[in-house]
Amino acid sequence: MVMKTYIVGNWKLNFTVGEASIYLHKLLKALPNYRDTEVVVAPSTIALQPLSLQVDRHKMKLAVQNAFYRDYGAFTGETSFSQLRGLADYAIIGHSERRYIFREDDKMVAKKVAAAIRNKITPILCIGETESERAFGETADVIRDQLIGGLSEVSDDDLDKVIVAYEPVWAISSTKAAKIATPDEIAEVVKLIRKNLADTYGEKHSEQVPVLFGGSVNPSNAGAYLTVPGVNGLLIGGASLILSEFTDIIETAKRVRA
Ligand code: 13P
Repeated sequence: MVMKTYIVGNWKLNFTVGEASIYLHKLLKALPNYRDTEVVVAPSTIALQPLSLQVDRHKMKLAVQNAFYRDYGAFTGETSFSQLRGLADYAIIGHSERRYIFREDDKMVAKKVAAAIRNKITPILCIGETESERAFGETADVIRDQLIGGLSEVSDDDLDKVIVAYEPVWAISSTKAAKIATPDEIAEVVKLIRKNLADTYGEKHSEQVPVLFGGSVNPSNAGAYLTVPGVNGLLIGGASLILSEFTDIIETAKRVRA
């Protein structure tokens, strides 16, 4: 089976529902059917319901940026994965902004990954070291802990329902003094991710997991990132808010695969 290339736009806390709908309208118009490229956007939760009625799922899919792991109950202000069933196809889980601003730990992340799978939503598990962790030589430990910790409630047979995204915190454009990751730096960590998966779940299961890269991706570096060995797609923040940049990256993905 040929693995798809994933181009995922994380809109973070941007766009009103109306703006999101206009963007989606334009994106759908610009997108032909790319069989091998899975285009996904992650709007605010409040926009998912209207956008799910508007989207053409033959062309692209929707992701939620966050949800709670319990399906119902006394959890004021939360939205559950079960409520999102049918609205979101994917869920971004464990993003560094959730880990560091909202104090989500690996246990919480693991429960969310399991809840997404239980509700037929594909989790995109984000992992990545901070600048100081890298400087102290802790990258391999952080990657292993976040990866294996985040997947701790996933059975071997469910591993093929998971996507992993490597997002070094120091490369995210909103990080103060963000740096641009080099293809070699990414290749090294992606190799580590695949080794950890193979050691824990076996070679056969681990090969089925798409690994994405995220961090200051733009139209001029997307091609280089997409050709890093073991990288199956991109998770894009800032550039996904600008339609022409996002469609340029999608075109690049198509070209790189051809
Ligand atoms: P940027 O592409 O703006 O660096 O954001 C990356 C990210 O956090 C996507 O989830």
